[in-house]
Amino acid sequence: MADYYNFPKIIIDNEEYWQVESVKNLKINGGITVALGDDLDYEVAIFFVNNEVYCLSNVCPHRHQNKISQGYIKDEHIICPLHHWTYNLKTGENINKLQGLKSLQSFEARIIDNFVYIKKPKINLPKWRQMEI
Ligand code: FES
Repeated sequence: MADYYNFPKIIIDNEEYWQVESVKNLKINGGITVALGDDLDYEVAIFFVNNEVYCLSNVCPHRHQNKISQGYIKDEHIICPLHHWTYNLKTGENINKLQGLKSLQSFEARIIDNFVYIKKPKINLPKWRQMEI
């Protein structure tokens, strides 16, 4: 069973948010990887684009590769660097169903006092992994 790491927590509007990164470590108009737990599927990609912060799963569902944070940003899309599956940066939605049906999970993110907070995540493991954990 995978575990989440322990991040500082705050409550906003009765919802728990985790402080997962310092703003100074963000890449302007790019992405970084943050591990939320001790499992590859618990990695997220945090993007800072046009002064907005976005948080998506870092694991591309095409070949289960943790490369989304290294993807190419084009307009409001993130393009996986391996085989170019393309997702909406905000929602994680797969924007080209001809490439496959799966989307990226997205997590609400915000910046407060120079830290990135994400709403308490619930990582959905790929179906083929749900039997093993
Ligand atoms: S692993 Fe991302 S497109 Fe293939």
